[in-house]
Amino acid sequence: MEEGRKKTIVKLIQVEKSFGQTDVVKKLSLEVGAGEFLTLLGPSGCGKTTTLRMIAGFEQANGGRIELEGVDVANLPPNARNVNTVFQNYALFPHMNVADNVAFGLVEKKVKKPEIKKRVSEMLRLVQLEGMEKRMPSELSGGQKQRVAIARALVNEPKVLLLDEPLGALDLKLRRQMQIELKHLQRRLGITFIYVTHDQEEALTMSDRIAVMNGGMLEQVGTPEEIYNHPRTRFVADFIGESNIMEGVVKETKQGDWQLYMDCGSVLLSQEEGCRPGELHYVCIRPEKLKVSAAPVEGFSIPVQVVEHVFIGSQIRTIVKTTDGKKYKISSPPDGTLLPAESQGFLYWKSGNAVLLPDDEQDGAPLEKGEDAFAIEGGEAGGSLV
Ligand SMILES: Nc1ncnc2c1ncn2[C@@H]1O[C@H](COP(=O)(O)OP(=O)(O)OP(=O)(O)O)[C@@H](O)[C@H]1O
Ligand SMILES: [Mg+2]
Repeated sequence: MEEGRKKTIVKLIQVEKSFGQTDVVKKLSLEVGAGEFLTLLGPSGCGKTTTLRMIAGFEQANGGRIELEGVDVANLPPNARNVNTVFQNYALFPHMNVADNVAFGLVEKKVKKPEIKKRVSEMLRLVQLEGMEKRMPSELSGGQKQRVAIARALVNEPKVLLLDEPLGALDLKLRRQMQIELKHLQRRLGITFIYVTHDQEEALTMSDRIAVMNGGMLEQVGTPEEIYNHPRTRFVADFIGESNIMEGVVKETKQGDWQLYMDCGSVLLSQEEGCRPGELHYVCIRPEKLKVSAAPVEGFSIPVQVVEHVFIGSQIRTIVKTTDGKKYKISSPPDGTLLPAESQGFLYWKSGNAVLLPDDEQDGAPLEKGEDAFAIEGGEAGGSLV
């Protein structure tokens, strides 16, 4: 664990789950610190909900171990775990008013009535729904219903709150607003959040750390900054934010330099880049880091034709085409000078602004079956920089 991170509250060790013949979660290892906001991010069907359901106890793992505060929870039913869940479709009880919905867990636990009243009203104040106690769910907006669902989970004061795409049903504006509110609430209460989304922007803005899942495995675990700037696999580079990805083979030149030879040209590599001649590698460059110049730039030989410029509010999006017919995206501020459409130019980037990744099929990535996700926490995340 990184220095300064709080103690581990949820620990998954080589957790596996299959439904019939299908392996849905494959030797997944992950640690979540107390008070941390960790997001599981990945495409539909990659096993996010299944992972949450195993932590909550609604699904039994077929292998590995899940610990909550250091205790193996394999034999603990959901209601004996100090965990609450806000589900993907956060159905409220339609026949109960707001206060009764929120009170539900406390009534089940046979908490005394005055205490229930006090805690429900505290909770409704926290999610800014004071005065709405008597409203029925059908009389609430989407965002209000969502806040009732969150209050209903938080009122039980769980140590860990699992949230499965809690904002999925909301429109974009409300979603952005609720993201901020939820993040504030989490900070204020100091509750550990394990949050599931397939919206990468949501993950980047809300999380302390992001665990990127693909096909039941973890591809990378790191801070939003690490995941965005130092993707460790091609999948992560492609899935998080926008990326230009070029493929090439490392070759040694007559002068003894190393170059990445691509179908569209070549780029000089520094020899500390963790690659060797003969290997297949990918260069990933964010659109905002990719540049085009009228004159060749030393170290780069990637001729392009400027296809078009599209004005998208705060930025200009430029599309360029390389000699092998592939298109790449460049974002630039609207006040810069641009090469006119149809003109010829050369691609380049500032040293350190691109990531060189090994072929996913070769060593390195994604995390090997059984390899601990903890091993890449801290400074090590990310491929080498070009
Ligand atoms: N009870 C089940 N029986 C059989 N297969 C299941 C069951 N639950 C999930 N699966 C399968 O397991 C895989 C992972 O499902 P899961 O719901 O965990 O994905 P997810 O990452 O949450 O996807 P989404 O983003 O669409 O919610 C899917 O292929 C799904 O069809
Ligand atoms: Mg899901």
